[in-house]
Amino acid sequence: MEVIEQADLSALNTLSLPSRAKILVNINTVDELLAACQKSEWQAQNFLILGGGSNLILPSLINRVVFRYLESSIHYQAMDKDTVLVKVGAGVIWDDLVSILVTKGLHGVENLSLIPGTVGAAPVQNIGAYGVELAEVLESVEVLNLETLTVEVLSNSSCEFAYRDSLFKQHPGRYFITSVSLKLSKKPCFTLDYGDLKALSLKEKLDLQGVRDRVIALRTAKLPDPKVLPNAGSFFKNPIVSSDVAETLKLKYPNLVAYPQEDGSMKLAAGWLIEQANWKGKKVGNVGMHAQQALVLVNYGRANQSEVLALADQVQASVLVKFGVSLEIEPVTIEG
Ligand code: EPU
Repeated sequence: MEVIEQADLSALNTLSLPSRAKILVNINTVDELLAACQKSEWQAQNFLILGGGSNLILPSLINRVVFRYLESSIHYQAMDKDTVLVKVGAGVIWDDLVSILVTKGLHGVENLSLIPGTVGAAPVQNIGAYGVELAEVLESVEVLNLETLTVEVLSNSSCEFAYRDSLFKQHPGRYFITSVSLKLSKKPCFTLDYGDLKALSLKEKLDLQGVRDRVIALRTAKLPDPKVLPNAGSFFKNPIVSSDVAETLKLKYPNLVAYPQEDGSMKLAAGWLIEQANWKGKKVGNVGMHAQQALVLVNYGRANQSEVLALADQVQASVLVKFGVSLEIEPVTIEG
C-alpha cells in the first residue's frame, strides 16, 4: 500500500480538472484493501474510489481519503467448449483488456473498444457503446462490502443494471469492486445492428479484430482523445421519454433522433438535442461542447469543476426551454 498526502489528481481524471486529495492510497490486493479500510484514522471516512478518472467531475480539494485499486490479474476458466469465464482485476485498463480478449479470439466486448477507464469502473455506469452494454456479458462482480467489510460475489441480476446505471452507481460508498467476471464466447457472435457497423455484416470475412478496428475508427472520428482534449465522454445521458412526448416532439421536429425502448418509451439522442439548441462546437471560457459530438463537454485547458458545471447548467436550460426535455449529467460530480 502506498500513501500519498496532498496528492495531485489533475493527471488522474480525464477532464484534467485541477484537484488535490488530502490522502491518496494506492492499493494492490484485497488484503491491502481490507487493511486500509480497517485503519483506525480512515475508518469513519467516506472513501472516494478512483478508477481511470474518466467519469468523474472532481472539485479542487477532496477533503477525504481517495483509494485507487491497482490489482490487474486476468484468469481464464473454460465453462464449456464454447464459453470462457474471464476474471479480471479491477485495476486493469478496460481497453487493454478488450485488446487482449480480441487477440485471444473471445467474443463479447469488441464493440466496447477504446472506452476509457478501468475494469473496476466499468460496471458502475454499465458502460455501453455500438449496441452492446457490459451487462450483457458480465457474469458477476466481486466486491468488498464496505459496510460489513466482507468479500461478496454479486451475480449479474443483483447488480441492478440499467442504461448507464447500476447498484454501484445508486449506492456510492457501499461496495468496492475488486474484480469483474465476464462470460465470453469462442464461437463467432457479432452485434452489428448499430448504424455505422451494419456495413461490416456484409463482409465475407468478418473477424473480431476487424470489428474492433472499425469501432476504434468510429470513436476516434467523433470522440476527442482525453490526452489531447480533456473530456469525460458523453457528458449527459440520452434522455428517456414517453412515446407520447416523443410523438409530439416529432411533429414539431421531424428530424428528432429517437430510439424505441423495450418498455414502449423512447430514448432521445442528447447529442442531437444539444446540437439543435446551438451548442455544438460552442466555447465558453475554458470549456465547450465538442465540434464533432455535441454530447461531449471538453476542457480547453484551465477549467475547474464550477466552470464545467456552469456550462452544463446552461446546456440543460437551453434544451429544457427548446424541447421541454431534462438532461441528466452522466459522470459523477464529487463534492469537495
Ligand atoms: N447526433 C447529432 N449531433 C451530435 C451528436 C449526435 O445529431 O452532435 C446524433 C447522431 O447523428 C445520431 C445520434 O445523435 O443520429 C446518436 O449519436 P451517436 O451514435 O454518436 O451516439 P450517442 O447516443 O450520442 C451513445 C453513447 C456513447 C457511445 C455511442 C455509440 C450515451 C450517453 N452515449 O452516444 O457512449 O459511444 O452511443 O454507441 O449513451 C459515453 O458514454 O461516454 C459514450 C461515448
